[in-house]
Amino acid sequence: MTDQSFVTLSTNDSYAKGALVLGSSLKKHRTTKTLTVLITPQVSESMRKVLKEIFDEVIMVDILDSRDSAHLTLMQRPELGVTLTKLHCWSLTQYSKCVFMDADTMVLTNIDELFEREELSAAPDPGWPDCFNSGVFVYQPSIETYNQLLHLASEQGSFDGGDQGLLNTYFSNWATTDIKKHLPFIYNLSSTSTYSYLPAFKMFGVNTKVVHFLGRIKPWNYTYNPKTKSVSSDIHDPTMINTEFLNLWWEIFTVNILPLLLQFGIVKDTSTALNKLSGLTYTLAFSCGFCRKEEVTDAISRMSIGHLNPPSQPFESSNKRKERWEQGQADYMGEDSFDNIQRKLDTYLQ
Ligand code: UDP
Ligand code: GLC
Ligand code: MN
Repeated sequence: MTDQSFVTLSTNDSYAKGALVLGSSLKKHRTTKTLTVLITPQVSESMRKVLKEIFDEVIMVDILDSRDSAHLTLMQRPELGVTLTKLHCWSLTQYSKCVFMDADTMVLTNIDELFEREELSAAPDPGWPDCFNSGVFVYQPSIETYNQLLHLASEQGSFDGGDQGLLNTYFSNWATTDIKKHLPFIYNLSSTSTYSYLPAFKMFGVNTKVVHFLGRIKPWNYTYNPKTKSVSSDIHDPTMINTEFLNLWWEIFTVNILPLLLQFGIVKDTSTALNKLSGLTYTLAFSCGFCRKEEVTDAISRMSIGHLNPPSQPFESSNKRKERWEQGQADYMGEDSFDNIQRKLDTYLQ
């Protein structure tokens, strides 16, 4: 344990899978830093136990949500209001310096040298390079900064509805003042950049140190085949032309995380964990007539996610549940789990 820590965040069991792979990748590459995960009460008890197996510290914080649907809709990511919860990372004053990493990142090598950098160091955002991407950043915990950030959030809000807009407003001189605070892009290579500038990726991609699965579709939404060690290619994601990083994410997940999820009863069988059956359930869901095909395909194309489990009660579901579904937030460990869907299907098939 040192007074320096990698810090990540998970507000639910899905992102926790990402956090576990990230933590595991940091360990695999022998970090000497403490590993901390911030969680909120929505993370299940069993998942907290699994997180404790990988992280040195599992710290409960309360949800901070911008509820700023106008700006979040502009970004087409209505679910990201809760990312303001990230701000809690400044309150970890037991550490003198930290590196925050999104739960959808993974390291390919040891990156402890980042602790030589100062607040606020980050890599450019691929969509607007004069802003930094807040998926990986070096910072110094401080209650003063924490309070100022909260104050700014309540006074002005965030221009993207999430943490990145707010942090770029607060650390507004990042773009111009000190080049040492610009992390090389290889410390936060967004998976979408491989398609938007393929020649650069071919040239520099081999040096990648951190992969960031930025965007609505996350590695844990794919179906994986452990025999071929590859994700299924039928998911509709035109930005994903390079599946090498995804396959690596899944390899870490199946080798290091899945056994823990099975041990703590979070998943009951390997097929469910590999999302193998969700495609089948989806087909059955409309083939046995309890929802129209167009409704399912429409909802799924709006989510751009082919392998999330379908809603268990498409006609009877509450508006809130429908809304959650349409935001791509299927609770597939809980209410929308395969078991529940299967039970519903069974009642139709009897
Ligand atoms: N996050 C979370 N729960 C959510 C959404 C986001 O815990 O429902 C956390 C998680 O650490 C995630 C980060 O906030 O990696 C930023 O969100 P995301 O990675 O989805 O944004 P993107 O990088 O795709 O823009
Ligand atoms: C960005 C970042 C992510 C952040 C989100 C909301 O896309 O990658 O870390 O949470 O914007 O501001
Ligand atoms: Mn991210």
